[in-house]
Amino acid sequence: MPSVRSIRAHAPDDPPITMLTAYDAQTAAIIDAAGVDAVLVGDSLGNTALGYESTLPVTLAESLSHTAAVARGVDDAVVIADMPFLSFGVDTAASIRNAGRFIKEAGADAVKLESGPHTVALTERLVSLGIPVQAHLGVTPQHLHTEGLTPAATTAEARELLLEQATAQADAGAFSLVLEYVPAAAAAAVTAAVDIPTIGIGSGPHCDGQVLVTDDVIGLTTDPAPFARPFGDVRGELQRAVTAYRDAVHTGSYPTEDDSPDSHG
Ligand code: KIV
Repeated sequence: MPSVRSIRAHAPDDPPITMLTAYDAQTAAIIDAAGVDAVLVGDSLGNTALGYESTLPVTLAESLSHTAAVARGVDDAVVIADMPFLSFGVDTAASIRNAGRFIKEAGADAVKLESGPHTVALTERLVSLGIPVQAHLGVTPQHLHTEGLTPAATTAEARELLLEQATAQADAGAFSLVLEYVPAAAAAAVTAAVDIPTIGIGSGPHCDGQVLVTDDVIGLTTDPAPFARPFGDVRGELQRAVTAYRDAVHTGSYPTEDDSPDSHG
């Protein structure tokens, strides 16, 4: 059974770590049953299930509620809660209390922080208190207004900075590092340089593991990330099912006498 510690101990020859997002108990249970190592309650909750334009409006209360739902649906996978915008980093005591709520109240095993120099001391502190931290570098969507969502670490200088920041996160005690939308060569360099596993998203094949937003993977999203690959057509299937239901009610083929207590004994 995967654990924070087994992910931290991932060796280059081990099978790649798999991680997917979930925001509800039913989807989380399916992902868990498929043997995915970690379920991330990403703040992508905002632009998927909650219908916001970005991740920025997601509140602590929304994240806690969805994390608790996911934790109820998962038996084996590691549940990681993504701390929403400004729920960390404003004030150390509040950041620690908020991170603690994901573990104590919502049942997460770890938290993820969109990272940078501003999270190094906090990561160290959380880990020392017993709260495992997954770091996240490269594109960090909570910096939408300052950095944008275009690929990160595309120059030699930016790649050096990424390496420095990745090393700082590993030294601070992060148990793994998400690398979002950086060139494959930059991801390979970070993966070789740090002694914690890297988990790539849109960053090529050289990371120790991979993560995607489940809505993109199952074909539910209408505007998937450019690097995401749909492995199904759940949107099409949902559309077919609800249209068939509506048609059955309109035509009178559902319900019948059989669909009432009269025929259920
Ligand atoms: O919010 C999220 O789903 C994420 C992943 C894309 C890594 O941070």
